[in-house]
Amino acid sequence: MDDIGSTVTLAGWVQRRRDHGGITFFDLRDATGLVQVVADPALHPETARLRMEFCVAVEGEVTARPPGTENPDLTTGSVEVTASRVMILSEAKTPPFLIEDRVDVEETTRLKYRYLDLRRPRMTANLRARSRAATAIRRTLDALGFLEVETPTLINSTPEGARDMLVPSRLRQGEFYALPQSPQLFKQLLMIGGVERYYQIARCYRDEDFRADRQLEFTQLDLEGSFWERDDVLETIEKVLSAVVAELRGVVVETPFPRLTWREAMERFGTDKPDLRFGMEIRDLSEVVAGSGFTVFRDVLDGGGVVRGINTGGREWTRSMADAATEKAKALGARGLVWMVVEESGSVRSPAAKFLSEAEMAGIKTALGAGTGDVLLIVADGWRVAVETLGALRIELGRPGGHETLSFLWVVDFPLFEEAEDGSITFSHHPFTAPESIEVMRGDPASAVARAYDAVLNGVELGSGSIRIHDPVVQRQVFEILGIDAATAERRFGWFLEALEYGTPPHGGFAFGIDRLVMVLQNEGSIREVIPFPKTQTGSDPMTGAPTWVSEGQLADLGIALAPEALARRDQDDG
Ligand code: AMO
Repeated sequence: MDDIGSTVTLAGWVQRRRDHGGITFFDLRDATGLVQVVADPALHPETARLRMEFCVAVEGEVTARPPGTENPDLTTGSVEVTASRVMILSEAKTPPFLIEDRVDVEETTRLKYRYLDLRRPRMTANLRARSRAATAIRRTLDALGFLEVETPTLINSTPEGARDMLVPSRLRQGEFYALPQSPQLFKQLLMIGGVERYYQIARCYRDEDFRADRQLEFTQLDLEGSFWERDDVLETIEKVLSAVVAELRGVVVETPFPRLTWREAMERFGTDKPDLRFGMEIRDLSEVVAGSGFTVFRDVLDGGGVVRGINTGGREWTRSMADAATEKAKALGARGLVWMVVEESGSVRSPAAKFLSEAEMAGIKTALGAGTGDVLLIVADGWRVAVETLGALRIELGRPGGHETLSFLWVVDFPLFEEAEDGSITFSHHPFTAPESIEVMRGDPASAVARAYDAVLNGVELGSGSIRIHDPVVQRQVFEILGIDAATAERRFGWFLEALEYGTPPHGGFAFGIDRLVMVLQNEGSIREVIPFPKTQTGSDPMTGAPTWVSEGQLADLGIALAPEALARRDQDDG
């Protein structure tokens, strides 16, 4: 409104053009939004050529729209620009989809024409949010005296639990660099190198299965500090996250964030990344059904298992819903699922009803705080399977859509080790995490607690960190417990173990996924929405075609020959 009467020069794209009684109207879009332009085609004949997505520059006067023609949907809806000059800077083919927020088009098409997709206001807003997040991070850490340091991306493997992305060396044929899964070891070396406060907005690479919150390459805010205890790390991260939330959401986050131990999180929510925006907590029913004649409960309890349940609240519960929930429970490894619906009469509708006594039924209802209409789900199984199954069902049935409210949480005291799929022992964070007690780690590794912590936002794992091992003797022991023999440890990590020998300061740090943080704060369901040029679920880029075949000459330079199956596929592609 303030601009009325001023002369402006605008440049952008034609959203759409309309001709009305000898006057041409078109909406001009630039990175800041839309404005309506009015032009007299008699004075500006080039306006007749304007089509969607033509790139144009306009000079003109800002005028108030005639009463009744204002557009309340536009921030500039009360004004228009009366053109004194219209210049076509470049023409455009008809785009494969409309450049507006409500496009109903396959993601592959959006990614193939990502440069057009990025013109959509929502995507522009996401890019802007990302940039502002990065600025808020830098501002906060700079004020706290942190040094921004870059670490290399052609390195040796850093074990973070995923498969490495490899880059062949031309100069040393047959040898490979690994792209960093994170800057973990380099930031620790920076601590040894006397950089007391480090951070980096770091690109990381992990060859792992895709999910809505995973990409092959993603960005972390990575930081590390020397002479730090856990709470120094948590306080710093709280400051950084609060600054980003203030920047993008304009709200103050309450700090310190609540904390749960890993054990509590698992007991109450069945996951190490609980979404605390809703209740539906897991309750222990083992005692209530301790003497039950119901063999499903009886056998599990006799075998050392547990009976746990959740109250999913009043909801419709059809046969097919019950079947779907049971299938899900089985897919998660549970033997089965017992469901119960509390009827108005107070009686319980359940396939298990006839096997349970009145007292057991009453006990279950009391333990789960159940009222009329509530649907109760119960799993009898080993502790881990029982809580994880209920945790997954809890999320499925209770999780709010979107991210209107924000619920941050620290999960602390993770186990140091966990069992891998093949039954061997593996690290739960990474092998450089310090144990709470070295004695326990040596004596009973399975029960050892790590000085590790995760940040969780609305049920999304935002980041992880730990206090590190700074004693080379302990580091060697951890490798040994992990089944990495001394010779292998020396070969893979000898350089790092050597570095630990030179007066390593105690240190610790953290990394959170910037993609995930911006995804939640922008209320998006996938990190692909906040990454300018992401890969599809199959790891490809529909725009550039990456990954692609390379020439025989390039392969020869690298000393690489393709396997017969790959050659056959290449021939097929060529054909
Ligand atoms: P971690 O492996 O837990 O810790 O990773 C930290 C955070 O990085 C993000 N992240 C991902 N984001 C998108 N796509 C992926 N494939 C992906 N993998 C991880 C998540 C995750 O929480 N070096 C340690 C940190 C430390 O100990 O300081 C590390 O990388 O948000």
